[in-house]
Amino acid sequence: MCGIIGIASNKPVSINIINSLKKLEYRGYDSAGLATLINNFINEKKCSGRVDELEKILFKSPSDGNIGIGHVRWATHGVPNVVNAHPHSSKNVSVVHNGIIENSDELKKELELKGIKFKSQTDTEVITLLITEALKNSEPLVAVFSILKKLKGSFALGIIFKDFPDIIIGARRGSPLAVGFSNNENYLGSDSYALKSMTNKISYLDDGELCILTENSVSFYDSNLKKINKKIHIVSKDENISDKGDYKNFMSKEIFEQPITAKKCVNEYIDSIKKDINIYNFPLEPKKIKKIILIGCGTAYHSCLVAKYWFEELTKIDIEIDIASEFRYRNIKFNSNNLYIFVSQSGETADTAAALDICKKNNVKTCAVVNTIESTIARNSDWVLPIHAGPEIGVASTKAFIGQLIVLYILSLKFSSMREEIDKKIYYQKIKNLEKLPNSIKNTLLLEPDLQLMAKEFLDARGSMFLGRGCSFPIALEGALKLKELSYLHAEGYPAGEMKHGPLALIEEGLPVIVIAPKDKYFEKTLSNMQEVIARGGKIFFFTDNKKELISENIRFGLRITNIDNFLSPILMTIPLQLLAYHVALLKNCDIDKPRNLAKSVTVE
Ligand code: F6R
Repeated sequence: MCGIIGIASNKPVSINIINSLKKLEYRGYDSAGLATLINNFINEKKCSGRVDELEKILFKSPSDGNIGIGHVRWATHGVPNVVNAHPHSSKNVSVVHNGIIENSDELKKELELKGIKFKSQTDTEVITLLITEALKNSEPLVAVFSILKKLKGSFALGIIFKDFPDIIIGARRGSPLAVGFSNNENYLGSDSYALKSMTNKISYLDDGELCILTENSVSFYDSNLKKINKKIHIVSKDENISDKGDYKNFMSKEIFEQPITAKKCVNEYIDSIKKDINIYNFPLEPKKIKKIILIGCGTAYHSCLVAKYWFEELTKIDIEIDIASEFRYRNIKFNSNNLYIFVSQSGETADTAAALDICKKNNVKTCAVVNTIESTIARNSDWVLPIHAGPEIGVASTKAFIGQLIVLYILSLKFSSMREEIDKKIYYQKIKNLEKLPNSIKNTLLLEPDLQLMAKEFLDARGSMFLGRGCSFPIALEGALKLKELSYLHAEGYPAGEMKHGPLALIEEGLPVIVIAPKDKYFEKTLSNMQEVIARGGKIFFFTDNKKELISENIRFGLRITNIDNFLSPILMTIPLQLLAYHVALLKNCDIDKPRNLAKSVTVE
């Protein structure tokens, strides 16, 4: 993952580098660092931990310099400590890197044979030392260009040079890199978001391209080192997102923002006067779509899983879902009558972006369901359906998941109507129900005190299970994912019907088992599966919309979620699961917004 920044200016840059690094912390928060050039000397400051630490170091010992690079790290090669933190500098060159150099061991051996010594365990130091060697015979751009050919893997690079104090060189392959333009100041950044407080004029490097920045010029080069022009995009203004208001953390703020997220999303896609769905400009005529393939990672993959049930119930289209890291290496048979939908909050997830690239190479139609409309995945797709959730800061995805579900549900309804596969009356009723969703989410959030109570029951647990059938199965997966990533408690999500095929062996006296059972066609079956768990001592937390079944001596806790439409129950059932994970993590004193070992945007494979 990691985030990089570079600034070439006519005034000192370290404060702006720190501010941009704070915005990039969603990409990694193991360690941070910056390097500026002062009197032909590379001045490096690094720390393990967060950007706040780096800021303290800088406060005690300020770093001048009108040119500089900065980095936040999510460790791949080497433990997160000061030595492995970026930038990686030699006497002549300093490098920040996002990505992974897959042949770094091989290159390291070659350099070591020449007597060159390494300080860190990182793959990035190889780049620094290769450039340092190449600079003996060439000027910076040619030196960088010549060594890039030796690198296997992915990179976005920012490089400064002791003897060329006016320039920053940027290069990309695989990992995104944006360039920002301003007066007497130009920028490099992992994304436009990091640059937005300084400029709204952005260009994006494509794979294989390089750039040279000075305080008042930017030059771009293609993969043959031929000078090129790049389009300048005007991006939206910076949103002030640093304010948590009265909330303890961003995650709770984002959970409680979900009625607004839902309202924005519904308002965006439903014409409140015509009471119809206003999605147009389809890349493929809906009646001609043979198959839809939904692709994502993590929570976004779970929304694809839920959508599969919706599309299958509402349309006759064949549906396939895939995890992006699997899709990109499968031997896929592409078909121009298929629609490939990519779901991603950040729009920068490396596996999802790579899967999209493969589709593009095979000339099939693609659609992005994203939160960040300026992202790589959005820019590279034929069709973009934004989810309008606003910036999501907490690493664990909450409101973006709800936004993804709403957009995918609306799309499935629209397709079913355009293909004349749904009764018109039912279609319009479903739209009415959707309009009630924001308020239902609001009411579901009122259940928080019950979930606070339930959370206590998880404190001494050795693990937990989440069960559901149909649409509730992916919600069980999502509930388990939220609990494990936030509270570090082992949690498994299963289709309830699978229990007797193995996982039942895990049930022991007092093991918390969350059963998600809306009153749908699976309800009775789920109850039977629950009885099998009860018979083996599982402690049941029963989430339903059916009041009658709540009272049973074998159910430790029952929670009733008022439902408005069976198709919307996965959305409403998600809310208490988010709150449960949140409160378990809070009781365990976990770092809720930045869980250990994770990052908000997974920009490496
Ligand atoms: C979990 C979570 C992750 C992301 C996944 C994909 O709470 O946030 O599982 O959903 O890394 O990220 P995006 O949606 O940005 O592609």
